[in-house]
Amino acid sequence: MAYSSFGQFVDALDSAGELQRISVPADTNLLIAEWANREMKSPQGGKALLFERPLIDGRESQFPLAINTMGSTRRMALALKLNSIDDLAQEIQLILKAKPPTDLREGWSLLKQGLNLLHARPKHVREGACQEVVHRFDPEAPAITLNDLPILKCWPNDGGRFITLPNVHTRDPESGERNLGMYRMQVYDERTTGMHWQVHKVGARHGRSYYERGERMPVAVCLGGDPAYTFAATAPLPDGLDEILFAGFIRKKSVELVKCQTIDLEVPADVDFVLEGYVQPGEARPEGPFGDHTGFYTAIEDYPVFHLTAITHRRGAVYPATLVGIPPMEDYYIGDASVRVFLPVFKMNFPELVDMTLPAEGVFHNLVFVGIRKQYPYQAFKIMHGLWGMGQMMFSKYIIVVDEDCDVHNTSEVLFRLCANTDPERDSTIIRNPSDSLDHAPSTQNIGSHMGFDATRKLPGENHHRPWPELVKMTEEAQRLVDALQKKTG
Ligand SMILES: Cc1cc2nc3c(=O)[nH]c(=O)nc-3n(C[C@H](O)[C@H](O)[C@H](O)COP(=O)(O)O)c2cc1C
Repeated sequence: MAYSSFGQFVDALDSAGELQRISVPADTNLLIAEWANREMKSPQGGKALLFERPLIDGRESQFPLAINTMGSTRRMALALKLNSIDDLAQEIQLILKAKPPTDLREGWSLLKQGLNLLHARPKHVREGACQEVVHRFDPEAPAITLNDLPILKCWPNDGGRFITLPNVHTRDPESGERNLGMYRMQVYDERTTGMHWQVHKVGARHGRSYYERGERMPVAVCLGGDPAYTFAATAPLPDGLDEILFAGFIRKKSVELVKCQTIDLEVPADVDFVLEGYVQPGEARPEGPFGDHTGFYTAIEDYPVFHLTAITHRRGAVYPATLVGIPPMEDYYIGDASVRVFLPVFKMNFPELVDMTLPAEGVFHNLVFVGIRKQYPYQAFKIMHGLWGMGQMMFSKYIIVVDEDCDVHNTSEVLFRLCANTDPERDSTIIRNPSDSLDHAPSTQNIGSHMGFDATRKLPGENHHRPWPELVKMTEEAQRLVDALQKKTG
């Protein structure tokens, strides 16, 4: 069943041989990041690291720090208590199969109903471990501040220390709908941070509604707890599909929600830390630079400011962190799990879709490989346009479509098909679409061109006027016989 704290997940990683404990003091200023970067770049994502004695400006932190906890296929499955991420995809497929939806909107709403029926709805509780210790910044009572958390400075030219795995809870002031998103936070001082929700994200949309009303926006930032929360926060769920419901479904246990101490929001009762506070309408402050998941520093830009009103935490809390930078990094495994989990939803909308992946080199949106069962001319283009119109897939910079017999998880095979099967002019298309805010290449931020390649075999009607050649392949019988012979000869 579900993890009851982040520490329990870290212990589970330890038992599975997936954790390295580091008992020497290690500086939160670059050194933990350098250590983690080496680990993330080692084969299959290396191990999770638990720094038992992180140093903050030469002082030992009272909280240990864990990093790279989801940075491999196995650890990502362990995080969600699964043998394989595909098991979760299958469960989603079963919900959708109950009454096959006719379009994507219906698909998402069916998923929502299914999640409700599966008792994934949250429960409301009066007390939670996340409030075992409460610091309200009362001048009379000593309190911990952001200066006491082992928050990392990740890269040399970063604008400061950044909270890198924050689960940010907000609420739509009109509909009351909750949202949980992951948006990094730059520490400005002991009680103030940046709030890096990009313009296309739900947190930013909620923010705009508060600004229009001229109302202060309550925001709660949770750190740790069941890693299902962190996964749900990063998952590109459509606006309106409640991440807390989704997290309850993943962990097969309703999320218990407790009221915050100083703001009108609820948070999962079992997380490790809660940073309670607010965003003031109209207030913005330069954020960055930050060594980002693009592999480049993102420039300084104005973002909203988050003011803390309290820090609460459980006893024995473990601070969660990640590091982003030149791929592959931990976030690749988180993103890849999202794609695999939601593949059934994509397939439902595009019945010809066989498989899809976003390779690490493309840092999520830059590169998408799609395998299809092609039956009619220009079907590859139909898939591209469909994906470009679907939620955060709108950011996809390059989409390469191949036939179903090509393994999209084998980049070399996809590149072989791309090079062999395309006439660049005939088989490509360039469109305009919103771009990822972090993409530095477009001339203007947030908008740009996107390119699709049809690397499938060409059908009659696709402007290829010669017979399509056959792919060189061995017979199955020869393969079987050589398998047997090789077994015999050892
Ligand atoms: C490690 C990590 C850090 C992220 N940082 C940010 C960020 O700073 N700003 C942002 O807008 N999205 C960031 N994202 C992506 C969002 O979490 C993701 O797009 C999510 O689906 C947004 O949720 P929303 O659609 O509810 O807004 C990050 C993702 C990961 C895995």
